[in-house]
Formats: sequence, structure tokens, C-alpha cells
Amino acid sequence: MTEPLVLGIETSCDETGVGIVRGTTLLADAVASSVDSHARYGGVVPEIASRAHLESMIPTIERACKTAGIALDDVDALSVTAGPGLAGALLVGVASAKSLALALGKPIYGVNHLAAHVCVDQLEHGLLDQPSIALLVSGGHSSLLLVPDVTQDVVQLGQTMDDAAGEAFDKVARVLGLPFPGGPFVDAAAQEGDPTAIDFPRGLMTAKDLAKHRFDVSFSGLKTAVARWVERETKAGNAVMVNDVAASFQEAVVDVLMRKAIDACLSQDVGTLVIGGGVAANSRLRAVATQRCADHNITLRIPSPKLCTDNGAMVAALGSELVRRGREASQLNFGTDSSMNVAKVVVR
Ligand code: KG4
Ligand code: ZN
Repeated sequence: MTEPLVLGIETSCDETGVGIVRGTTLLADAVASSVDSHARYGGVVPEIASRAHLESMIPTIERACKTAGIALDDVDALSVTAGPGLAGALLVGVASAKSLALALGKPIYGVNHLAAHVCVDQLEHGLLDQPSIALLVSGGHSSLLLVPDVTQDVVQLGQTMDDAAGEAFDKVARVLGLPFPGGPFVDAAAQEGDPTAIDFPRGLMTAKDLAKHRFDVSFSGLKTAVARWVERETKAGNAVMVNDVAASFQEAVVDVLMRKAIDACLSQDVGTLVIGGGVAANSRLRAVATQRCADHNITLRIPSPKLCTDNGAMVAALGSELVRRGREASQLNFGTDSSMNVAKVVVR
């Protein structure tokens, strides 16, 4: 029997993503980004994002179907990001997916964007180990998760107390005069810099912090330390060594994330770490994760950079896993949930 064909739609932020998968095989991953329209504002403008989703939705669906070589009629089920994300942006994706489900008479799954960031790895590295530890690092979230079953059992071990990891990258990029979104630019600058040049603080790593916040992270102090450092150097009339600041900042983020992630694996006795979300595209995080997981005999899984940032394939991957496991679909009247809890995988 051929495996079911699932079309997934993602519109939680500024990418209109349509992915098509059969089982765990990726057939198409069409993405239309509105990032250039937001760049001059230094952040995503919700109204602009919603409008861009409206304009891109049909062309992106058509492009995905063409790449996959399928007709919409062939689709066995639909999945769509129901949350978390920008309320208006989510509505465009959910309304589009519901219309398709209704017109085609196919089941629909309203899914959690965060679980989708974890599940996408299945498209490249096969079914997830049960349980896995997931380090989820994106522009809006930073969490350490225990994942016994990505379709219904996701437990949050820790989260950020303030800024998300990607948000910290974006804010530091702005301080350094780098473009939006900052992550990839900080990553590139850091490759030319010295990560030991400046000893920036590691948040929530003292014994006292660890007693209360073992798996939580905090990047706001680090972000402020970078801003102060740049301010001091500028006042003193020194040229700011952007590459060194970027590398030292990035090192502090990566060091803390990986110490907490390895601790989570060891303390929970889980042998697999999967990293997902936009910041998982970071070259230094990937390198340090590879090294430290090898040191501790932990199997590391990170999707290729293109699948780490927001896309439709991740939503289709989770939809496909829900179908494979025979999970119940959503009712057609499900709503969006802009602050959807990470423990909730599907809205019903
Ligand atoms: O998962 P994602 O595409 O969207 C959200 O769900 O938030 O993550 C976007 C975030 C942005 O903050 C962006 O700066 C960051 O991921 N990012 C990176 C890199 N590529 C994207 N951060 C660090 N290094 C990168 N190479
Ligand atoms: Zn995301």
C-alpha cells in the first residue's frame, strides 16, 4: 500500500510555506518569504505578513503541487499550523487549509508549529527515537523538551525566561548594525571573528540558578552586556570589532544551549538529541553540538539548514506522522491559537 500523501501549510510568521510529503519522503517544499518587506522596520510587521500570505498562498500551493508532480485531488490529508504565531498570519493559513479540506473532502490537522520543527527531522533521518530530547530554538521560542511521542506527548523541561535565542541574535545584530533577520548575518560575521575575544556572561549557569532553572535559559542579560560593550567601545572612540563581538556573543549562546541540552539528555537518560527551529541553522551551534554529543555518546539529529527555518515541509511532516499513527483529525471548526502551548500537538 502506498503511504498517504499530506499537504502542509505554514503561515505563523513571515514565510508562506507549502510542503508535500508521502510518508517521510519530502516531495516539495515551496516557500515564499515576505522578509524583505519587513527588513526596513527591523522586525516582522504582522499586517504586512498577513497580506503577503494572502497574496502568496495560491501561487505557493500551485508551485508545491507542480514540484511534487501531484494534483490537489491526490492529497489524502491536510495539515496546517494552528499556533503559536501571529494571529492574523495564522488565520490566512488555517482558512486556506480548511477551504481545501472542505473542497477535497479530506481530513485536516491543525498542528503546533513547535512540534513541527521537531518532527521535520524525520524527512531526512527517519523516524524519531522514542523518547528523544528536543532543543527547540527559534525566533519566538527556546525550549528543552522531552519527546516520548511527537504526535501527542511533548513535555517541556525548560524554556527561556526572557528573549528567545533567535530574538537575541536579531537584537544583537541590530546593535552591531547588521541587517534583519540578524541570525544568519551574526553567524557569517562570527566566522571571521575570535569567539574568545570577549568573555560575555552565560545566563542561568551558576549553582544557585541551576538549582531553580536547570533547563531554563535567559539571553536578556547577555544581550544587554553586548549592547553595553559596544556603547563603551564607541564612547572610548574605539572601532567596534563586529566580527569578534558576534563570535563571542554566539559562543555564549551556543555554550549555554548545549550545556543544558546535554544535561537534559544525561539526566533523563535519553540517548538522542534533536535540534530544531531557525537557530538550529547556526553553523557554530551545529559544530559544538556535533562535538559535545560525540563526547557523551549521544546521537545528534539536526535537519539541514533549509528545513530548520520556517517551511511547509515541517507541517506536512507532522501531519504525515499523525496520519501514520492513526491519530484523530481536527474538527473543521477548530480555531487558531497564537500562544499555543508546546505540550498541545493538535487542536481538535
Ligand atoms: O524558526 P524560525 O524560522 O521562525 C520562528 O518560528 O521564529 O526562526 C527564525 C529565527 C530568527 O530569529 C533568525 O535570526 C534565526 O532563526 N536564525 C539564525 C540563523 N538562521 C536563522 N540564528 C542564528 N544563526 C543562523 N544561521
Ligand atoms: Zn519556527
